[in-house]
Amino acid sequence: MKVLVVGNGGREHALAWKLLQSQKIERVFCAPGNGGTATLAGCQNVDIAVDDFQGMAKLAKNEGVSLVVVGPEVPLAKGITDYLQAQGLVVFGPNKMGAQIEASKAWAKALMQEAGVPTANAAVFTDIVAAKSYLKSQGAPIVVKADGLAAGKGVIVAQTIAEAETALDAIFAGQFGSAGNFVVIEECLVGQEVSVLALTDGLTIRPLLPAQDHKRVGEGDTGENTGGMGAYAPAPVATSAMMARVQTEVLEPTIAALRGKGIDYRGVLYAGLMVAPDGEFKVLEFNCRFGDPETQVILPMLDTPLEDLLLACVQQRLGDMPPITWKNGASATVVAASGGYPGDYAKGKVITGLQAAEITGATVFHAGTKLQNSQVVSDGGRVLNVTAIGVDFKQALDRAYAGIAKIEFAGMYYRRDIGHRVMS
Ligand code: AMP
Ligand code: GLY
Repeated sequence: MKVLVVGNGGREHALAWKLLQSQKIERVFCAPGNGGTATLAGCQNVDIAVDDFQGMAKLAKNEGVSLVVVGPEVPLAKGITDYLQAQGLVVFGPNKMGAQIEASKAWAKALMQEAGVPTANAAVFTDIVAAKSYLKSQGAPIVVKADGLAAGKGVIVAQTIAEAETALDAIFAGQFGSAGNFVVIEECLVGQEVSVLALTDGLTIRPLLPAQDHKRVGEGDTGENTGGMGAYAPAPVATSAMMARVQTEVLEPTIAALRGKGIDYRGVLYAGLMVAPDGEFKVLEFNCRFGDPETQVILPMLDTPLEDLLLACVQQRLGDMPPITWKNGASATVVAASGGYPGDYAKGKVITGLQAAEITGATVFHAGTKLQNSQVVSDGGRVLNVTAIGVDFKQALDRAYAGIAKIEFAGMYYRRDIGHRVMS
């Protein structure tokens, strides 16, 4: 079987790596891929942009691809699944209607309210005057969100009304383009965040291991927000009792509400949850895809062949599958970032020690890298996800850190305290 993975991040490297562990997978194409997928045995990069649907269709047909797995949200929101399916291709990932659950926070909020899914109280605005007067009536802290896709930058957790007003000014001034035509203002929740990624065929929905990531750039979870500086799974904050409630109070009602709107949602439904100190949880957001870097810690723990699960979703027979099986123990990843990230940073730095890191027992998933004159060079803010599994968090983290210690590139930065919550 040949598979096309759409995307170029650590998530896509992890998907390709996991798929290639199966005897059934003959070849993976990654479009456009990165330095990691370029050097992964059995995987081949193809230089097609994620929103070039025609190019993707042509490649998939020419190469006899039997499954397309879409990584990022942007092509899903633009309808890659609808387009490729109309060409007779088999695609894992929701259609354009379904992808609204991530592409419009206002739409997702209304869906959650209809479905009775626990979520922060919120109001939606198209008008700055009304938005500002609502802010004042609510008080700070408060959260301001641009409605549409904003590469993870459209959410401002404001500690003061002035900060919230500045955010509203920026959004209404067009900082996020049409993503800011609507603004969601919602109550600020406190607690620990956890990501529950679930696989669904539109009828049945099954959670993967819960994962937690470290979003802040600095040690002790301080400093600016990033795309994630490290992650681990299974996240202990999501107890089995809580996961049972997430199933019946979040995942099942959401899929039922989508079905009620005539949306046949097949792919990943990712619930970003806030767990309060008393254990109660609320949905912060839904994503319509695998999380990054959560996928990089979840997939190494998965024993069930990934392609069996993905095909069961696409073919709507997830309910007939035996329970998903997992390795015992734990998984962790540490992100090697370019110095300066999430602000300005340099690219094109030669990366050494990748093989030495693998010899220590770590698996290095590439994020922002590319192959240049047969050398792997940095090509983004988050460069590598150095990942390991172990009998427990300590062993997984020790292995990941032993791996990252072998790696060097100019300006490389990583947090030394990934997993501090599960180690204390
Ligand atoms: P979202 O894309 O909606 O998940 O927001 C991105 C990040 O903003 C989340 O991962 C949280 O860290 C934070 N966030 C979003 N909504 C809230 C909220 N209601 N209260 C507190 N933090 C939030
Ligand atoms: N790790 C956050 C995300 O994938 O959106």
